[in-house]
Amino acid sequence: MQIRSLGYLGFESPHFKEWETFGPEIFGLGLGEPGADGTVRLRMDDRHQRISVHPGDEERLAYVGWELKDKAAFRAAVKELEDKGFSPRLGTPEETADRQVQGLARFQDPFDFVHEIFYGATFTSGSFLPGKPMTGKFVAGLDGVGHVVFVVPEITPELEEFATDVLGMELFGDWVATTADGRQTGPQFYRCNPRTHALGFVAVPGMRGVQHIAIESDHLDDVGRAYDLVQERELPITITLGRHMTDNLVSFYMRSPTGFDIEFGAGGTLLDESFVQANPSNSEAWGHKFIAKSWAPTVKPLAD
Ligand SMILES: [Fe+2]
Repeated sequence: MQIRSLGYLGFESPHFKEWETFGPEIFGLGLGEPGADGTVRLRMDDRHQRISVHPGDEERLAYVGWELKDKAAFRAAVKELEDKGFSPRLGTPEETADRQVQGLARFQDPFDFVHEIFYGATFTSGSFLPGKPMTGKFVAGLDGVGHVVFVVPEITPELEEFATDVLGMELFGDWVATTADGRQTGPQFYRCNPRTHALGFVAVPGMRGVQHIAIESDHLDDVGRAYDLVQERELPITITLGRHMTDNLVSFYMRSPTGFDIEFGAGGTLLDESFVQANPSNSEAWGHKFIAKSWAPTVKPLAD
C-alpha cells in the first residue's frame, strides 16, 4: 500500500474535556462538532477532525489513521493486509461515522499499536476557524497532521518491514545509537509525502507507548506566541525551543493533558524527489534542552 499522510489521531483520556480549551487556546486548533459521548474533535483545516480525544479510563493512544488515495487503494490495501497476516477488521458504520470517512479498516502493528487505514475524509470548504488568532495557518491538507513517535522496546527488522513494506513508507533518517549488545535505539523516521516524517520509533528497552505527536504552523510567530503562553500559564514544557538539525523544524515540546508530549513547530523541511538520506552530526542545531526527567506517562513498562 502507499500511505499518503497521517490523516488523523485518536486518543482516550479521563481528561478529554480539557482539550476543548487546551487545543484552541494554546495552539489555535479549531473545535469540531463534539461526539455524542462528548468526544472532543480538534481541527487543523477543512477536514472535520484531525485529533479526537474520546472519554476513557486510561490515558492512551486509541488509533492512528493513515490516509490512502481512494477506494481502490483502500480495497487493495485491505487485501494486502489479509495476505500478510495482519487480519484487518473493516470499520463499523459507527466507526466510519465517528472518523467521518467513507471507509476504514483496523489492524495492529508488531507492538500492538492500533492503526487504521481510511479513504474519503469529509471536508467542508472554507469552514476552518482557528481557536485563536493565528499569524499563519496549520500545515495540514494532503500532507496530514504531522507526525507521531512511538517508544518501542526494540527496533526489530519486523517493525522496519512494517513501516516500509506494509505501510509503504520511505526511511528519512536512521540515527542509530547501537548499544553494546547490538540493539538499535533509534530514532528512526519514516515519510510518505513531502514532510520529512509522519512516523517515528525510539527504542527504550522494556517500554512501549506514544511519546509525542507533532503539529506545525507555517509561521514561526504562532510557535513563539504559544511558547510565551505556555510559560505564562506555567504549563509543563518538556523540551525547550530549538531547531532540529534533522528537519530544520523550530519547535518546543510540552506535556498534554493526556500525558503524551505535543511538539509545536514551524519551518520543517519539505522534500522532493531529490532527497537522499543524510546523517547530521547532531540532532539539534540549537536549543531543544530536555526539561522533562522522564518519558511521557503514556510510555509504560511492557508488563503494565
Ligand atoms: Fe517530533
